[in-house]
Amino acid sequence: MKTILVTGGAGFIGSNFIILVLQETNYSVINFDKLTYAGNLENLEGFSKNYKFVKGDIADTDDLKLLDNEEFDYIVNFAAETHVDRSIDSPNIFTITNVIGTQNLLNLALERSVTKFVQISTDEVYGSVAKPDCSTETSPLNPTSPYSASKTAADLIALSYFKTYKLNLNITRCSNNYGPCQFPEKLIPLMINNAANNNSLPVYGDGKNIRDWIYVEDHCGAILKVMEKGINGEIYNIGGNSEKQNIEIVKLILRELDRPETLIHFVEDRKGHDRRYAIDFSKITHELGWKPKTDFNIGMKKTINWYSKNKKWLDNIVSGDYKEYYSKMYEER
Ligand code: NAD
Ligand code: DAU
Repeated sequence: MKTILVTGGAGFIGSNFIILVLQETNYSVINFDKLTYAGNLENLEGFSKNYKFVKGDIADTDDLKLLDNEEFDYIVNFAAETHVDRSIDSPNIFTITNVIGTQNLLNLALERSVTKFVQISTDEVYGSVAKPDCSTETSPLNPTSPYSASKTAADLIALSYFKTYKLNLNITRCSNNYGPCQFPEKLIPLMINNAANNNSLPVYGDGKNIRDWIYVEDHCGAILKVMEKGINGEIYNIGGNSEKQNIEIVKLILRELDRPETLIHFVEDRKGHDRRYAIDFSKITHELGWKPKTDFNIGMKKTINWYSKNKKWLDNIVSGDYKEYYSKMYEER
C-alpha cells in the first residue's frame, strides 16, 4: 500500500482531496498541517482508517523532523496562505509559508526520493488576461498580489529542483474552487453565509471581475490523475469551464436563498484587483484524459445545500478566531 503525504490537508481543497483518496483509492494518507485559522480537522471527522494527522509547520524544519519516522511515496503540497485580501494586509507570512515552506518540502522530497512531488499552484500566477485570451502553461507569469507572487516563486523553485536535481514533480494551476468546507472569507461561502443571515453582501468595485469556477471534487480528481500519470516536470492547468462575473454569482446565491438584491453593497475595490483569470486546460484533457464533470449551476446548488445543512460548521468558524477579522472587515467597508 502506498502512502501520500498531504500537506495542508485540514484546509478546503486538501480535506476534500483526502476524503476522495480515502473513499476511492487504496492509498494511505499522512496529513501534515499547521492548523492556521484556515485549517479545520472537523472537515475530516470520522476518518481514521489508513489516515494519520501530524500537526506541524512546513516552514519550520524542526517540525518537519516529526516526519522522520514516517514512510511516504508521494508528497502533495496544498499547505499555503491562500487569501488574497490577507496577503495585501500582511504579506510576509505568504512568503514564509508559500515559498520557504515549499522549498523545505522539496528538500524533504529529495532526501526521501519520493515517487512524485505535486505542487498545488494557481491560475493567479498568470495574472489578468483580457477576453478572449486564455492562459496556457507556457503563457508569461505575471502575478500581481503578494499571494500570487509567492505562489509563482514556489513554482519556479519547484521547476529548478526538477531541472537541477531531477526531482520527479508536477505543478498544477487551477482556477477558483467552490464546494463544501471552504473557509467563509472567500467569495462564495462568504456570500452564502451573509445572505443566510440577512447581512450585506460586499461586492468589490463594479462586480464585473471574472473568475473561472470549478467544483472542488473535480479539482481533486484532476490532482490524483496528475499525481499518478502526469509526465515528470510538466505543469498542468486545471479549469472548470465556467467563467462568471462576481455579480452573477452573488445574484444566483440570493435567488437560491430567496433573499432580496437590496442586500448587495458595492464597496471599495481590492487593491490591484485582477480583472479576469481564464485558463486553457486542453493539455490535461489531451494528455491525461481529464475534464471537469460538474455543471456550475448544479455544483452551486450542492454547495448552497451543504452550507445550509452544516450551519454549525459555519457558526463554529464565524464565532472562533475568525470573528475578530470578520468584524474588522465589516467595520472597514
Ligand atoms: P485553505 O486556506 O483552505 O487551507 C490551507 C491549509 O494549509 C490549512 O489547513 C492551513 O492550516 C494549512 N497551512 C497554512 N500554512 C501552513 C504551514 N506553514 N504549514 C502547514 N500547514 C499550513 O486553502 P485552499 O483553498 O484549500 O488551497 C489549497 C491550495 O490550493 C493552496 O496551495 C492554494 O494556493 C491552492 N489553490 C487554491 C484555489 C482556491 O480556489 N481555493 C485555487 C487554486 C489553487
Ligand atoms: O484563482 C485561484 C485563486 O482563487 C486561488 O489561488 C486563491 O487561493 C483563492 O483565494 C481565489 O482567489 P480570488 O481572489 O479569486 O478569490 P476570492 O474568493 O477572494 O475572490 C473572488 C472574487 O470575488 C474576486 O474578484 C474578489 C471578489 N470578492 C471577494 C470577496 C471575498 C468580492 O467582490 N467581495 C468579497 O467580499
